[in-house]
Amino acid sequence: MSEQVNSWLLRVGNARLAIPLLGLGLVLASAGMAFGAGTPSLRSSNSTRSSETTAGAMRLLYAHCLSCHNSEKHKGGLQLITRELALKGGEDGAVLVPGKPNESLLLKVLAADSDPHMPPKKQLSTNQIQLVRRWIAAGAPWDPAALAKASAPREVVLGPVPDSYRPVLALALSPDGERVAIGRGNRILVHDTANTNFTLLLETEAHRDVVRSLAWSAVNSVRPSRLAQKGTSAACAEPVTGSSSIPW
Ligand code: HEC
Repeated sequence: MSEQVNSWLLRVGNARLAIPLLGLGLVLASAGMAFGAGTPSLRSSNSTRSSETTAGAMRLLYAHCLSCHNSEKHKGGLQLITRELALKGGEDGAVLVPGKPNESLLLKVLAADSDPHMPPKKQLSTNQIQLVRRWIAAGAPWDPAALAKASAPREVVLGPVPDSYRPVLALALSPDGERVAIGRGNRILVHDTANTNFTLLLETEAHRDVVRSLAWSAVNSVRPSRLAQKGTSAACAEPVTGSSSIPW
């Protein structure tokens, strides 16, 4: 079950990888403390944590700041695309003092009551602001690879629909009223309406995504099938890969 849920989640970048790695760091740290062996494992956990802070700060800058502070826009004269440019500051001078969050305008402007306030029309969460604080306190290290990764187009891989997700979002009655096609999850079920028990005549997987629409249509004569004999087929529209039809 959890396997299916995992594969159903959008896999974006290696975010899934980052979590087990961080988890491992914490396990090492607590094992170190428990056995008094401390230093080496704690040190590795600290460096994992600080590189995670840096990568997190890069993602935050990309998601919330770079649209206005890049080489074309540089609002307030400030560009945040490299460490050098961030250190150079804006129209009013330095905004980033490595190791000194409280002296860094870049942190101050994030506070709710700050004027100017950044980002101008959004309020970053306390956790996000803490992340920026930790990053500046750690010397505002830069991670160009993490920044490039944040800005790269992300691959989205769809997994199978979980078995427990079987909503009925589409149904269609055949033109002669004798069949009803039901989209249930990513499957199509055809029932016989002429029969009091609504006998199930067909159950088939339609495509990977949930069936969102269904229609009966005249069937193509090159597809001899049981449905062709009846003159109709149940077809479903698939937004991603085009439409498929179920011969009957
Ligand atoms: C929608 C555009 C936009 C976004 C997004 C944005 N800014 Fe700004 N930023 C501005 C503008 C415009 C100014 C100039 C404001 C002023 O001087 O009154 C500015 C000014 C600043 C300044 C002051 C520069 C100076 O020297 O006076 C800092 C620091 C700053 N932004 C940091 C950030 C950070 C950090 C983020 C992301 C959390 C961010 N900004 C997101 C538009 C934006």
